[in-house]
Amino acid sequence: MLGKDLLGLYETSAEDITAILDTAVGMKKLLTQNLKKLPHLQGRTVTTLFYENSTRTRCSFELAAKYLGAGTVNVSASSSSVQKGETLIDTGRTLDAMKNDVIVIRHPMGGAPHLLARNVKASVINGGDGMNEHPTQALLDFYTMREKFGSFKGLKVAILGDILHSRVAKSNLFGLVKLGAEVTMFAPATMLPQGIERLGAKVAKSREEAIAGANVVMGLRIQLERMQGGLFPSLSEYNKYFGVGEEELKGADKDHIVMHPGPVNRGVEFTSAVIDGESSLIEEQVLNGVAVRMALLFLLCKNRQGGEKV
Ligand code: CP
Repeated sequence: MLGKDLLGLYETSAEDITAILDTAVGMKKLLTQNLKKLPHLQGRTVTTLFYENSTRTRCSFELAAKYLGAGTVNVSASSSSVQKGETLIDTGRTLDAMKNDVIVIRHPMGGAPHLLARNVKASVINGGDGMNEHPTQALLDFYTMREKFGSFKGLKVAILGDILHSRVAKSNLFGLVKLGAEVTMFAPATMLPQGIERLGAKVAKSREEAIAGANVVMGLRIQLERMQGGLFPSLSEYNKYFGVGEEELKGADKDHIVMHPGPVNRGVEFTSAVIDGESSLIEEQVLNGVAVRMALLFLLCKNRQGGEKV
């Protein structure tokens, strides 16, 4: 079963993923009944420690913790003692000394959550580390797929966009392969990590090939902030040759769904008609993110006593 931390889906079993999704079903029921003053995490404290910008992940962890009765603290690197030269480990130990239970960390360096987890008593959740993983985004994506299709066996998932820089793509791939789905990726050659096939992905030669018969069409944001430049000529050129509009979606399965982790670059990876279209579950993903994070916080805190994992 789940250990002290959730650092990535590479090291998380299909059983643990399923246990989180199953627990999230009950959490979503509570949420949809507007029950937002629950006792599950009374007496617990959850800190979000974000060294990069975020709307969805930080807000949904904070709301998930609050809805379950936990105290919450937000630390952003720009306004904390990190600016005075404090190390990540010292920041974590300072939070430990205050009897904090969970740290949700987002950091531009891959592996930062793992380093922190080895050095603190708090449970550490990876809220996105560099180009490595974003496990809770993938978990909410899985929840959304399972709610629609019931199972992952043979599910055809097409992931299109900036796969090279995407921690969402990696967490999705690691988890979906374990759960029995078929993952096909498509990106400009400059945005596709070498050897991704060895991790279980099929690589398509065109967006049409990737989308053909897909149950799920997932777009990824072009991550301009992580690019050194020169990976494609212009955003409009990208949209013309790699973006997805209603015409491209005609090749997907008739009951397909459209997903995107957000934030979306409208008119770049997807047209507005696709983002706001009937098959888009992008807003439902955000709601499911709160339920999944409630479930994860609950499961990680269940075995903690006096600020430590037992
Ligand atoms: N999907 C996601 O991680 O969004 P934020 O950057 O807004 O947290």
